[in-house]
Amino acid sequence: MCKIELKKVTRKRAVKEGNNLKEMEVLKGVDLSVQPEEICTILGPSGSGKSTLLRLINRLEEVSSGSIRLDGIDIKELEVLNLRKKVSLVFQVPVMFDGNVQENLLFGLKVRDEKSEKEMMKCLNLVGLDSNFLKRDSQELSIGERQRVSLARTLMHKPEVLLLDEPTSALDPTATLQIEKLIKDLNQELKLTILFVTHNLSQAQRLGHRCVILIDGEKVEEGDSQIVLQNPDNPLSQKFIRGELVKEEK
Ligand SMILES: Nc1ncnc2c1ncn2[C@@H]1O[C@H](COP(=O)(O)OP(=O)(O)O)[C@@H](O)[C@H]1O
Ligand SMILES: [Mg+2]
Repeated sequence: MCKIELKKVTRKRAVKEGNNLKEMEVLKGVDLSVQPEEICTILGPSGSGKSTLLRLINRLEEVSSGSIRLDGIDIKELEVLNLRKKVSLVFQVPVMFDGNVQENLLFGLKVRDEKSEKEMMKCLNLVGLDSNFLKRDSQELSIGERQRVSLARTLMHKPEVLLLDEPTSALDPTATLQIEKLIKDLNQELKLTILFVTHNLSQAQRLGHRCVILIDGEKVEEGDSQIVLQNPDNPLSQKFIRGELVKEEK
């Protein structure tokens, strides 16, 4: 069974055009199947609907039509908080709450006992940070360290699926490669299913398994990352891969 399955997912949104509001289809009938434990990269130019797709899976937004299933169950039938425990969204710019790293890791946990102490250490280690970080002020961390802490905080809730929305776009090249490695390790060690959104071709190539190209709200390409990225079928994705697809200003 698919871990996540989108069927004919459409998302309409009112967009300002001058003084008028115009209804725009941001996602146009997207079908997508994500298998358990795979890393699926969603690649596409800015404005193609990548973030919207992730937000729908997490129910930060609702589909206009079509359906999204998690383990075969329509996510509309799940309680939103339960859904978000299983399917966690990690943002482009890491959000840190005031306080130290420990407080950040324990944020939102109802029970805080010895077990959560252990969990905290485990999650810190998983993201490649040591226990010295617990007392560090979150505001004083580098952006790369913040992204690690935000990942560790997500892992505290034992998600099954990670939705990563351009998690390295604010990072320098070294920190970017480190986070990529970390994502691959988490996928292997914790058997997490991962949807990784990026506009960066080489990143999609490095991350591997499967790749989907989204252009203007439509899925134009899908398949093994190496094959799709080297030899795309669709003329629009060929253009995108050649770097010729620059979104027109509206
Ligand atoms: N809050 C919003 N209100 C209105 N339009 C939006 C909003 N967020 C995004 N959009 C529009 O929806 C389309 C898809 O956006 P988005 O999913 O953020 O694309 P991507 O993540 O691929 O850059 C874009 O045309 C964008 O301008
Ligand atoms: Mg986006």
